[in-house]
Amino acid sequence: MVHHILLNFKVVFLVVGFNFSMATILVESNISAVESKYEFCKPKNCGNGPNISYPFYVYGNETDYCGHPGFRVHCLDHTPIYKTSAADYIIQDINYERQTFRLVDLQVFTNTTCPTLQQNYSLDRSSVDFVPYHADIFFFYNCDYSVSTNYTVSSVTCNASVINRTYVALVPRDEPFDWNRTACELVVAAPVELDQWEINQTITNIDYKKKLSDGFTLKWIGFGYNCADCQSSGGLCGFEEENSVCYCPDGTHTKHCKDGKFLLLLFYLSRVFFPCYSHTIQLTTPCYL
Ligand SMILES: *[C@@H]1O[C@H](CO)[C@@H](O)[C@H](O)[C@H]1NC(C)=O
Ligand SMILES: *[C@@H]1O[C@H](CO)[C@@H](O)[C@H](O)[C@H]1NC(C)=O
Ligand SMILES: *[C@@H]1O[C@H](CO)[C@@H](O)[C@H](O)[C@H]1NC(C)=O
Ligand SMILES: *[C@@H]1O[C@H](CO)[C@@H](O)[C@H](O)[C@H]1NC(C)=O
Ligand SMILES: *[C@@H]1O[C@H](CO)[C@@H](O)[C@H](O)[C@H]1NC(C)=O
Ligand SMILES: *[C@@H]1O[C@H](CO)[C@@H](O)[C@H](O)[C@H]1NC(C)=O
Ligand SMILES: *[C@@H]1O[C@H](CO)[C@@H](O)[C@H](O)[C@H]1NC(C)=O
Ligand SMILES: *[C@@H]1O[C@H](CO)[C@@H](O)[C@H](O)[C@H]1NC(C)=O
Ligand SMILES: *[C@@H]1O[C@H](CO)[C@@H](O)[C@H](O)[C@H]1NC(C)=O
Repeated sequence: MVHHILLNFKVVFLVVGFNFSMATILVESNISAVESKYEFCKPKNCGNGPNISYPFYVYGNETDYCGHPGFRVHCLDHTPIYKTSAADYIIQDINYERQTFRLVDLQVFTNTTCPTLQQNYSLDRSSVDFVPYHADIFFFYNCDYSVSTNYTVSSVTCNASVINRTYVALVPRDEPFDWNRTACELVVAAPVELDQWEINQTITNIDYKKKLSDGFTLKWIGFGYNCADCQSSGGLCGFEEENSVCYCPDGTHTKHCKDGKFLLLLFYLSRVFFPCYSHTIQLTTPCYL
């Protein structure tokens, strides 16, 4: 009888030990899978420009979970590029604390002495917006007579053809604006940023080429607020299936690296004390009791 109980105890001990080691292996294999997400999502740099981290992420190797949709960054010739449906922009700067980033149209750099943009911009996402004091530089190309608007226009001599002319105007954003639509072949608007004192200026008082190469600032809104919690706990923010997540050295958490520990402990304890009842958790683990 005593022998029997002792044998049983041995079996229980063995099974508990076995289950424990299986649980350890299970948890460890989970960790290596998410540890690679933690590794993959570490801040990156294209070579030039700012460090790229959440909500931005560098495109490549299916690491879309490292950032937010619409914040994909392409590294082109060691330069971070932000693509929209209308145009490609160089990311000059990202301020993660203020949640702003500054963009310059790639086309501006193709001809800095005579920047002539060919595409309107489009922000594509409702999660980004302009910061205050932004304006548009309007280009009026190939006009056969002076375009009539209630904003001052200036002639761009470097883009003029023998017959037709090109004009530019500075138009504060969100101001109603109309022009003689039959006068010109192509009209393109490019966002720029003004200093506060410049908001009532006209195109004749500002250096529009410099404004274009200085670029404009966008802010992102509506998400990323939990990211500080995640980061201060040693994690890296990510985005999976419409939810923000926190990648930590020990796995994926919902908000920060300290949450979810209780569940993990519960899981361990259930494996140790109720190896068979917790059987459904991991079907590949055999249950001998
Ligand atoms: C990028 O991050 C590295 C490491 O944290 C830091 O040394 C470097 O100054 C950062 N670069 C920029 C442009 O912020
Ligand atoms: C993609 O993976 C390859 C091979 O692992 C690596 O050399 C490359 O740097 C990765 N690219 C990015 C953008 O992470
Ligand atoms: C810039 O554009 C102007 C007008 O379109 C052209 O005359 C000039 O050659 C261009 N310069 C360069 C470096 O492409
Ligand atoms: C002026 O710029 C526009 C837009 O880039 C271009 O289509 C046009 O050919 C240019 N005209 C001249 C004369 O350079
Ligand atoms: C320009 O004209 C529009 C109407 O077409 C008007 O709403 C707007 O206030 C005018 N702007 C200026 C600066 O006169
Ligand atoms: C635009 O120019 C055409 C040709 O000169 C003229 O007939 C028309 O009235 C103008 N429209 C406006 C809104 O200025
Ligand atoms: C001048 O502009 C008019 C109106 O935009 C256009 O129809 C015409 O082809 C242009 N002429 C030249 C030589 O570009
Ligand atoms: C750019 O936007 C203006 C309206 O803001 C529009 O009239 C013009 O046709 C657009 N140009 C292009 C090239 O899409
Ligand atoms: C710009 O013009 C508006 C209306 O004319 C005026 O109320 C405002 O004070 C001006 N702002 C600056 C910075 O000059």
